[in-house]
Amino acid sequence: MAHASTIAISGRTEKTLLATKKAVESSFPETKVLTFVADSTDEKAVDAAFQTVGHVDVLVNNAGFMAELVPVSESEPANWWKAFEVNVLGGYFVTRAFLRVAAPKDAVLINLTTGAAHLSSYPKYSSYQASKLAGTKFFEGVAVENPGIRVLNVHPGVVETLMGRKGLDAGSPFPIDEGESLVFAISFPILLPVFCAQLLSFPSLSILLGYTT
Ligand SMILES: NC(=O)c1ccc[n+]([C@@H]2O[C@H](COP(=O)([O-])OP(=O)(O)OC[C@H]3O[C@@H](n4cnc5c(N)ncnc54)[C@H](OP(=O)(O)O)[C@@H]3O)[C@@H](O)[C@H]2O)c1
Repeated sequence: MAHASTIAISGRTEKTLLATKKAVESSFPETKVLTFVADSTDEKAVDAAFQTVGHVDVLVNNAGFMAELVPVSESEPANWWKAFEVNVLGGYFVTRAFLRVAAPKDAVLINLTTGAAHLSSYPKYSSYQASKLAGTKFFEGVAVENPGIRVLNVHPGVVETLMGRKGLDAGSPFPIDEGESLVFAISFPILLPVFCAQLLSFPSLSILLGYTT
């Protein structure tokens, strides 16, 4: 959509990455898609991927984890804590690597946060809400340290992905945003945050975010 010459995507599952590469390259033949199998909580793997790419204009920190939705008293510690590893530590490793290769001018960092981090606290969501709030605060810190980089915390809506399904199955308190396909008219609630992120990434609209560079 933004006519990027190269998009690098990373995740733990090669099959998903290759399917995404195929889909993007068939819709946008002028765009080259690079894939990296890497866990965002693996510092060395993250660093290696960014060093291979070498130069990044836009980073989307999307990887996220929601622990099992059970009360604290029934939670399993490793699973509860994993949300902090992926949503905070992973975001930190990815951001640290990005800052070393970010474009010197007009670089953009988009973090997928969640409205749930700012709403009332809900039963069974302690791990997810607390870790996403911590992650969001981390990215606010990155923003003030790097005034030359536009840092956006974007809530993508409530979408029926694997994570979204976990919430729905546990009786999610959040209303779901309908959107079965990426047809604009159907999925407007989902595309709205995408368009907002794109708009706010334009240098000329930086002033809306309080940036003066
Ligand atoms: N769905 C919603 O309603 C909703 C609402 C608000 C915010 N969000 C946020 O939006 C983002 C995406 O959520 P989603 O709903 O698409 O979640 P999802 O269905 O669970 O997908 C998570 C994605 O992150 C990757 N990932 C997970 N752990 C990773 C790790 N340790 N290292 C590298 N990649 C990892 C997964 O790929 P692999 O498994 O192949 O690694 C997958 O592509 C998250 O940050 C989430 O908190 C989602």
